[in-house]
Amino acid sequence: MKDKRTAIVTGASRGIGAAIATRLAADGFSVIINHSASADDAEALVVAIQAAGGRAYAVRADITSADDTRMLFEKAEAMFGGVDVLVNNAGILRANPISEVFNEDFHYQVSVNLNGAFYCMREGARRICDGGRIISLSTALIGLDLPARGVYVATKSAVESLTRVLAKELGPRGITVNAVAPGPIGTQRFCDKWPAETIKHIVEGIPMGRLGEPQDVASVVSFLTGSDGGWVNGQVIKCNGGSN
Ligand SMILES: NC(=O)c1ccc[n+]([C@@H]2O[C@H](COP(=O)([O-])OP(=O)(O)OC[C@H]3O[C@@H](n4cnc5c(N)ncnc54)[C@H](OP(=O)(O)O)[C@@H]3O)[C@@H](O)[C@H]2O)c1
Repeated sequence: MKDKRTAIVTGASRGIGAAIATRLAADGFSVIINHSASADDAEALVVAIQAAGGRAYAVRADITSADDTRMLFEKAEAMFGGVDVLVNNAGILRANPISEVFNEDFHYQVSVNLNGAFYCMREGARRICDGGRIISLSTALIGLDLPARGVYVATKSAVESLTRVLAKELGPRGITVNAVAPGPIGTQRFCDKWPAETIKHIVEGIPMGRLGEPQDVASVVSFLTGSDGGWVNGQVIKCNGGSN
């Protein structure tokens, strides 16, 4: 018997996923911290959430594997009695002009961002309790058509399409399906990846004059998972400081 609602956050060992998991735990969810390789980071987050009075459990599952994804849900159900919320957060970006994209990089991005998101959405559609929520991370880059982002944006556009269709399929069960599309978020990875000059240029293009924080995205997810977000369905919510 469940005494709390349960959320699975994929790719929650760091960055935006870790902030979402922390926020949902503070909101009262029991949280599954998914990761594929960063076990130490995931366990450290579990300890931090527990120290703050929350409930969390780390589960290694590579979302590019349908079997792993099924096991992720099975473990969540065994641990907490059912799943109410899926946050499809795990994703990767390999920036290259289309003419220079290696087959391996193309397939890897499709595999994590699209196949992985699809496996999680399908498993969520089969298992999430009536009245639940599915939220996927997209990107505010869609529509900007920036060079070197083609494959990444193509995968996230596909996720937005799946989101709109699944919202119609699951609406009758009271399950909402939405996407959150962040602009540039100053995660550790983001700041390590780009030179200071590039980050300065990016910030100049943001009307609010700063990079987003992972907590900015977590706040939107918190709204969508709460009762105030219950009539928002099939939407892509940009969270980008007004940059486009
Ligand atoms: N940062 C931004 O500016 C930004 C902007 C717009 C959208 N987004 C989107 O927001 C999401 C989170 O981005 P982020 O910047 O926080 O990323 P990040 O810091 O690189 O973290 C990615 C997370 O995904 C996990 N992951 C990667 N491959 C996985 C797999 N196959 N199975 C399970 N987990 C996997 C990683 O854990 P392991 O190391 O254990 O694999 C890690 O926890 C992504 O979908 C990204 O596209 C980010």
